[in-house]
This record gives sequence, C-alpha cells and structure tokens, in this order.
Amino acid sequence: MTRKASRGAERLIRADLLGIEPYEPIVPLEVLSRRCGVPVEKLIKLDGNENPYGCSPRVRRALAKYAFYHIYPDPLHREIMGPLEKYVGVGQEHIVAGSGSDELIDLILRVFLEPKDKVINCVPTFGMYPFSTAVCGGRTVTVPRNTKYEVDVDGVKAAIDSRTKVIFIASPNNPTGNATPQKDILKLVETGIVVVLDEAYYEFCGQTVASLVPKYPNLIVLRSFSKWAGLGGLRAGYGIFPSNIAELIRRIKIPYNVNIAAMIAVRESLDDKAYLQGKVKAIIAERKRLSAKLKKQGLLSPLLSQANFILCPVVKGDARKIKEWLDKRGIFVRYFDKPLLNNMLRVSVGKPEHTDALIEALAKYKGGRDGREKGR
Ligand SMILES: Cc1ncc(COP(=O)(O)O)c(C=O)c1O
Repeated sequence: MTRKASRGAERLIRADLLGIEPYEPIVPLEVLSRRCGVPVEKLIKLDGNENPYGCSPRVRRALAKYAFYHIYPDPLHREIMGPLEKYVGVGQEHIVAGSGSDELIDLILRVFLEPKDKVINCVPTFGMYPFSTAVCGGRTVTVPRNTKYEVDVDGVKAAIDSRTKVIFIASPNNPTGNATPQKDILKLVETGIVVVLDEAYYEFCGQTVASLVPKYPNLIVLRSFSKWAGLGGLRAGYGIFPSNIAELIRRIKIPYNVNIAAMIAVRESLDDKAYLQGKVKAIIAERKRLSAKLKKQGLLSPLLSQANFILCPVVKGDARKIKEWLDKRGIFVRYFDKPLLNNMLRVSVGKPEHTDALIEALAKYKGGRDGREKGR
C-alpha cells in the first residue's frame, strides 16, 4: 500500500465536520428498562414529548393489513397530499412530506446554505437547528431569548448580515413551551431572510401561521405527526413552503424519503382526526392538572406551556439529582443545566396515572440543596 493510501480517508473528510457536536438522541425503552430494572411496559417515559396514548388504532389495523411492503413508496406521496391539503387549509403545491420534520430542517438548510452562511437560532430551543446547520456547512448565530423566553426580535434583526440565510423559530418552543406571537413572526418575515416557523406542537396550542405561507416568499412552516398523532417511531412530518421552494425541495430530496408505513399511518391518522383530537384534549387537560399538582407540591415551579410538556425550574434541590432519583424508579424526565435553563427539568405530559406516579415519587424525594438523596 502506498503511504497516501495508508493514511486512509481521514485527510479527505470535511475539516468542519470533525469537531461536530452530536445531537443528543433519546435512549431506547429496552436500554432504559435494563438500567433501572423496571419492565418496559411499566416505564413512565416523560422525556421525549411523545404521545402517551400512542397512535390511532386505525393505524395499527391498516399497517397489519397492507400487502405491498415490497414495493417502493410514491416519491410524491400522492395518497396523502389531498388529506394533508384539507388538514392544513393550504394548496398542496405548498406541501412536502418528510421523514419527520427533522428531515425537512436538513433539506431547508441544504437549499439555502453555502459554506459558512449563517443561521439564526433563538436559544434555548430545539437542538436540531444548530446540529443540521453544522452538518450542512453553515454557522449558527445565537440570539438568546429574554428571561420570559420570548424571541428577541430586535436582537435577531441586529444579528442579520449579508451571510444570514435562515432564522429558526419553534412555536410553541421546545423546551420552554411558549408560542411566539404572529406580530413578532411577521416582523422577522419583513427582514427578507427565510423564516422557518417550527410548529411541531401546533395541535396543543392552536396558533398557526400556515395560512400566511402563500402570501410570503420567505415563510416556511414545519409540522410533525410525532406529537399529536403519536407517530414518533414511524417518522412523518411535512413542511408548508412557498411553492417554488416546495418544488425545489421535491427535486433535491431522496426519492423515497417517506416510507410506506409512515404514509399509511398519516393517511389513517388524518382519517381518524376526531379520535386523535380527543387525545390531544386529554393531554391539554392533563397539562393543567400536572401543572397544578407540581405547583402545590413546591419542589418544581412549572412554567405555563402551550405544548405537551412543561418546563420546570427546580425550587429546592438539584435538578440532576431529582432526575437520577426518578430514573431509578422508572420515571424519565429531561434535565437541563445551561444558560437560561439552569437547574431545570422538562416533563412531558403523560396520562393521569403517570402524573400521579410522578407526584408520588417527587413527594418521597428528600434531597436538600446539596442534592444528597435522603428519601427512599
Ligand atoms: C421543536 C421541534 N421540532 C421538530 C421536532 C422533531 O419532529 P419530528 O419527530 O417530526 O422529526 C421536535 C421533536 O422533539 C421538536 O421539539
């Protein structure tokens, strides 16, 4: 082997990728179960903003019955475009489906970024924006939200320069749970930069700018079936784009980006909307009950949320210790300790029995400010 060959492909790798921070993904149920010794079916998973009621029963039935898994799926997703158009209320020339909204975040950045172009990220927010920006060779410009977690519109405007291509706003935002008012979104749209409004939690909030997309050449809305429809494991999302951008996204995406199972699941979910909306209502009601119970207990201080999770600053004690205490009991929540998210937990809203188990476990937690566990 020549010396050049023996050095392998390392020297050919994009230098900017070598230091990339990996996205912190969820831990699979089986691994969690092994770690805490609680059977999978008894785990209380409140760390992924997933839907505790699962998918519509019609999805399971349709998937079991389907006979053509050996045939490639339709790259243009024709079967679900009509139902999506009806659900969103915007013409299908504006809509592209993806393997979760995660895929659409990546595709949008591929469309707009040239190496070192800038993307504005209003932290704290969803971690995929800086991750996909880095993978696509862009640079993230961070504009912190204010202490109420509102987007700093003037700060975003001041951060824009000739290399700025995209602004990401999650509304409701993950992990803070608050939505961004339409007037603020429009102020950002007026800058002419591409504004991506990520409405993954739209169904728990009811506020959307989807109908404005056809009026603005630089507004994109992303939606997901992972949360309200309980399809996180099947990967289905969609974007609502100005039609010229939708057309380009269809051209550059991998052809079979939405698999047959996901497509069937989307079709059946939209056909069983009333059932799923009933579960969304139950989650919204439970959000209120969980928040009231946490407030009364006094260990955590739940913030107002318009999504299916609640961000909770810890009043007494150490968030990490509380998370570890809950982990051992088979209850999983998300823990943060970074600027604007110091000593906080994010709790996804589960079923009423999940709330009760969480409150009961927290009541037994006796860790002091030093975080030492004293309860059992
Ligand atoms: C704000 C936000 N956008 C997008 C996603 C990802 O959605 P999907 O499962 O459709 O890729 C999440 C998932 O947690 C999220 O919180």
